[in-house]
Amino acid sequence: PRIVLAYSGGLDTSTQLAYLAHEKGYEVCAYIADLGQDDVKDKAAIEEIRDKAQASGAYSFECVDLRREFIRDYVYECIRANCLYEGRYLLGTSMARPCIAKKQVELAWREKAEYVSHGSTGKGNDQVRFELCYLGMDPNLKCVTLWREPEYLAKFEGRQDLLDYASSHNIPVSQTKKHSYSEDENIMHISYESGELEDPAYPGVVTEYPGLVLKKKTQDLMDTPDEPCRLEIDFDNGAPVAVREHDASGAVTNSTGEDPLALFAKLNELAGIHGVGRIDIVENRYVGMKSRGCYETPGGTVLQAAHLDLETLTIDREVMRLRDTMSIKFSELVYNGYWFSPEMDFLRVAMDHAQKPVSGTVALHLHKGHVIPRGRSSPHSLYNKKLVSMDEEGGFVPQNSTGFIQTLATRLKAAKKRDAEL
Ligand code: ARG
Ligand code: SIN
Repeated sequence: PRIVLAYSGGLDTSTQLAYLAHEKGYEVCAYIADLGQDDVKDKAAIEEIRDKAQASGAYSFECVDLRREFIRDYVYECIRANCLYEGRYLLGTSMARPCIAKKQVELAWREKAEYVSHGSTGKGNDQVRFELCYLGMDPNLKCVTLWREPEYLAKFEGRQDLLDYASSHNIPVSQTKKHSYSEDENIMHISYESGELEDPAYPGVVTEYPGLVLKKKTQDLMDTPDEPCRLEIDFDNGAPVAVREHDASGAVTNSTGEDPLALFAKLNELAGIHGVGRIDIVENRYVGMKSRGCYETPGGTVLQAAHLDLETLTIDREVMRLRDTMSIKFSELVYNGYWFSPEMDFLRVAMDHAQKPVSGTVALHLHKGHVIPRGRSSPHSLYNKKLVSMDEEGGFVPQNSTGFIQTLATRLKAAKKRDAEL
């Protein structure tokens, strides 16, 4: 039988690959999605992973560059929906899973594979996301989850068992583990979990500790420039289409066009220099436990703030209220793995509709970890200076406010009177 394995090149998936090929008799297609993680940063790095996959017994190796698709169809879609899980987490890992899974299912179709697999642990969210995405796209696919099988668990009790198995199959692995915590990286973010971080009181991202350096994408605030970064971001239909950097005189010093990769990389770079986008949180996993995670999401944090700022000018008040309640649901669905589901399709239509007027420009400063909106403008603005101005009447009749307020107070008066009798 054929299987497409979401492969990372690490010790866990290399062992799983070899086990699937040698012990279980699968023909394994090892697939790695390039979402901008360091592991596949250049040709040499990809070749190294290819060699490892082949040494582990894969008949085929696929590294697919999904960076633009990831930014356009997942990162931007979540920014447009104003996604934040539990008020803080921008979902950088959660939104990557459906992107990886979608291509994996397409590969399974192409390779005529009935089986798929991934390497996420049995305690986490990622297993749920991968498997719900597989089944959401193709209900006939079967997912092999070795690390949830008693036989496999008994054979590989610890890291040394994995190392021994790998060396018995001549699979090259680095003997020294870089650190005890686990990282998940893509162009949107990097997450750090487990290891020392399992103690929620142990300080993570904010401060650097010997042996625990959580700052791959952002600088420590102590090292960020005193001079702010002055930015303008153009949006069209809720998605960013240009970034311009200015000097203090207002002259453009740097700019990008619409290409999602160039634009997002630029934002990551500038925001990273200014220490924007670090969080250290305890979150609720879908599988039922609380978990502590540290995240760096520089460019995404800037986009989230800028986009929300432009919405204040362009979205109707009541649409915004409804959208805000839907954003919570949308974020929960992304976190829980329901990217491909009827309820997401339903919400997407509403979110798309709400974004139609969200075009224009936001000016911002990035400074000492902060994203500071400094001005906004839009051809579809609902802002009416005449109407709101203290200096002119502008078509709004203040006398009408008297009756309006009296009517609104009807309930308040009734309650006050009743409460006096209690
Ligand atoms: N807690 C985050 C989430 O559930 C990050 C998970 C990181 N995944 C990983 N395999 N290290 O989205
Ligand atoms: C994992 O289990 O692979 C990491 C944590 C998570 O998915 O929540």
